[in-house]
Amino acid sequence: MAERKPLISGNWKMHHNHFEAIQMVQSLSYQLSSDDYDACDVSVHPPFTNLRSIQTVLESDHIPITLGAQHCHEEQKGAYTGEISPGMLEKLNVGLVIVGHSERREIFGESNSQVNSKVKAIFKHGMTPILCVGETIEEREEGEAERKVQKQLEEGLHGIGRERIASMVVAYEPIWAIGTGVTATPDDAQDMCAKVRQCIKFIAGKDASESVRIQYGGSVKPINAAELMNQADIDGALVGGAALEAESFARIIQYRLQ
Ligand code: PGA
Repeated sequence: MAERKPLISGNWKMHHNHFEAIQMVQSLSYQLSSDDYDACDVSVHPPFTNLRSIQTVLESDHIPITLGAQHCHEEQKGAYTGEISPGMLEKLNVGLVIVGHSERREIFGESNSQVNSKVKAIFKHGMTPILCVGETIEEREEGEAERKVQKQLEEGLHGIGRERIASMVVAYEPIWAIGTGVTATPDDAQDMCAKVRQCIKFIAGKDASESVRIQYGGSVKPINAAELMNQADIDGALVGGAALEAESFARIIQYRLQ
């Protein structure tokens, strides 16, 4: 079976100006050792205005944290006021781009077909998508969670080759757990991540399903990170609130020491 190195990603959402962001990344890097980077890949996803500053810090200080973005437009250029193209992110050495986060889907109305175009555009520019999927509390209570996630995966990954799917990241983020302090139990998170892997197997075959990295997201904190990360089908975490401070994010990255 493929060896899947864990990936812990900090999604800062609309927090930290570029001064605060620089301080945060420097402070994080002081707390992490080469053992931590050997054990686990780390990415930070600051707001667009901070990308250039954080790129400079990571590169000049040789910090092995991957620069990530939270979103991008699917077109290369054009009259899309306020948007950022994948080519612009590529130029900043962005490695990972979050796509289809539930806040983008629910607040900004992103559809599965737009998400699919973005996934393709991100790959075209040599970056790796973190495709977010997950159900609302109503969908879960109605027994629809699995069907919702399956549809998000089938439509979000439509027309994408097996090798690309094998190399990407899927984040299972139940919407009811995001920013609420309520975390899915390790068993529930494992159950849905196993279903995500099963679905990838159906879409792209066994090899891809064994290589794709699946993150859990939704109120991951230092206190629950180890239990979640120890589940067989959970290969990482997409962390919001607890990734805003260097100390708590570092403790999540060092979950194996707990
Ligand atoms: P949270 O956010 O950790 O604050 O719940 C996770 C996310 O939205 O990716």
